Amino acid sequence: MNLKSNEVFIPGAFPKYTYISRQSSEFDISYEVRLTQSLHTVGFLTSIIGPSKTGKTVLCEKVIGTEKMKSFSGSDFKETEDFWVTIARRVGLPLESEQTEQKTMQGQGLSGTREGRASAVTEKYHSNKDKVIQYFIENDWVLVLDDFHYASPNMQMEIAYQLKDAIRKYFKTVVISLPHRSDDAIRKNSDLSGRLNLINIEPWNTKELREIAVTGFDKLGLHIDSSIANDMAQESLSSPQLMQSICLNLCFLLDIDNIDKPKLDSSMLKKAYEMTSLNLLSYKEVARKLKSGPNPRGQKRKTYTINSGNQVDMYELLLKAISVDPPKVSLSIDEIKRRMDAMVSDADKPDRKKIKTTIDQVQSIMQTSEPMYQVFEYKDDKVYILEPLFLFYLRWGRLD
Ligand SMILES: Nc1ncnc2c1ncn2[C@@H]1O[C@H](COP(=O)(O)OP(=O)(O)OP(=O)(O)O)[C@@H](O)[C@H]1O
Ligand SMILES: [Mg+2]
Repeated sequence: MNLKSNEVFIPGAFPKYTYISRQSSEFDISYEVRLTQSLHTVGFLTSIIGPSKTGKTVLCEKVIGTEKMKSFSGSDFKETEDFWVTIARRVGLPLESEQTEQKTMQGQGLSGTREGRASAVTEKYHSNKDKVIQYFIENDWVLVLDDFHYASPNMQMEIAYQLKDAIRKYFKTVVISLPHRSDDAIRKNSDLSGRLNLINIEPWNTKELREIAVTGFDKLGLHIDSSIANDMAQESLSSPQLMQSICLNLCFLLDIDNIDKPKLDSSMLKKAYEMTSLNLLSYKEVARKLKSGPNPRGQKRKTYTINSGNQVDMYELLLKAISVDPPKVSLSIDEIKRRMDAMVSDADKPDRKKIKTTIDQVQSIMQTSEPMYQVFEYKDDKVYILEPLFLFYLRWGRLD
């Protein structure tokens, strides 16, 4: 079978040929086995948490299979519509809600009273809920609530309440969420305690990222040197999506779909990284905003001369320090200082205090901007990169 490079490397969807199975450090089994075991446990809800783009959705697709997985986003649920009605509508299950309501009203002779209407509505909801549950069980479907953090806090509580009862009736559910975002409705819900299976997806390490490249190029009939695979894994930071993108762009540069056994050498990597950064142009504006720092209010900022001969202010210097070799997703203040010292050619170099103040300022710009701008955070004397794609863009994208 002759596979095309874009069938092998898939940065935006399920990677059939380059799916890598990983183990969590919490238990000595793969995430796939863990999820299978969790779904096998009647009366338990599965909660998957992991950083953005680490393969939470892909894991569910792998284990449950796209046919049996009925996926919803947190934002699909509105407070104006019953949870079960939203689900029924999407999976094409007809509900006889209007019919039930009419029948109850006529039959009871209670049509005008509040009690009459309330009992009809409750009955309707009960039957909708039971119908959906039964339909899911008959088809052996699993409800996957993806991006649960997009549901409003009220809706999250309501969903948790509905699920609590449903899981006892053999209804299988997985809730997926980002860390730091409120999923307290699930994990800190005392009604669900003792009935939760927690799966924490950890960031990818270089060994796991390498496997994507090695497996994929092998499928395309090309051996990849381990030094090249290592370099690519390091640049991918902790993101399997970046690795898939880099590999795909490298294939494009090699024209691998048309040329038999093209020569792959390390000189092509830089070009592949630059091409990959073209898919990340949305980070250009983020970089620009952070690099400008707060409004200087007419004051001229102190600048430093860097090795290239250019003059940069503290904000630009900070982004440069974060982006130079080797790429790292966490940096201590000492490390940032060492990087700045090596870059600044003046005798007067920024001290730790100045570095910290600059980071604080950038942090407050991020916090008062949209979520897209929250690309790193400062905690316990360290800068943690929250969005590996941003760091990749800083390293390889055009900033001017
Ligand atoms: N196990 C894996 N093996 C190989 N590639 C993977 C794997 N998991 C994820 N990827 C790559 O990363 C991409 C993103 O994965 P996925 O969409 O599942 O992440 P996510 O955690 O659900 O992200 P989000 O937080 O945005 O919902 C996939 O399209 C795929 O290219
Ligand atoms: Mg997802």
